[in-house]
Amino acid sequence: MRNAQEGDFQRRDRAMHPPAFTPIYKSTYLRAPRHALLSLEQSIGDKTGPVFGQNHLNPLDNDLILNYARPGEEAIGERIIVHGRVIDEFGRPVRNTLLEVWQANAGGRYRHKRDGYLAALDPNFGGCGRCLTDDEGRYVFRTVRPGPYPFPNNGSDWRPAHIHFSLFGEAFAQRLVTQMYFEGDPLIAFCPMVNGIPDPAARERLVAKLDMGEMVPFDALAYRFDIVLRGRRSTFFENRPEGL
Ligand SMILES: [Fe+2]
Repeated sequence: MRNAQEGDFQRRDRAMHPPAFTPIYKSTYLRAPRHALLSLEQSIGDKTGPVFGQNHLNPLDNDLILNYARPGEEAIGERIIVHGRVIDEFGRPVRNTLLEVWQANAGGRYRHKRDGYLAALDPNFGGCGRCLTDDEGRYVFRTVRPGPYPFPNNGSDWRPAHIHFSLFGEAFAQRLVTQMYFEGDPLIAFCPMVNGIPDPAARERLVAKLDMGEMVPFDALAYRFDIVLRGRRSTFFENRPEGL
């Protein structure tokens, strides 16, 4: 077992998440459960794995500018670096965990057969990437800033620019699927998905900050987005402060 920590994972703090039924986001009418949730005990499989993809990454998997492009060509758009740390709720780094991202291209169009938005596809942009966190829980990938796009909700609502994230954590019970937004985007305030999150501080934590310290001169701007997964209810060792 590659994870030295033991113990159950903390229960999900539902106050941090949007309610399953959020009327301003119309898709939740059909997606939300109609009965009270049942709480299941965590099994050994929930605590130890399985986890996915550790041995199958390619060198360009975290470079969305190149990983779908024809040889010698690149994706079109505002070039950006996205980086941050993955930690648990006690500040401990979540190491060697698979982080996956997917996004629209610079015009706001997904490479997906059900995306009918009129913006053009970029022949050199696939929109998917992945990487593993290092020993400090750090991750980094390179991409183009996605464009906003309209979707059918209350007429035509618009999604702010965003990148979808999936993290498996140390085991499946820790998996988080979320979206990252960009500091200063005026569409965030109008988004029914963002506004489905009741706590303004929780909404703010989904907004990546412009990070000029990590920009690449004459190449790419940088954004920082730190991610917190729920932690394990493990023994606290007095000689080993949390976070180390
Ligand atoms: Fe999206």
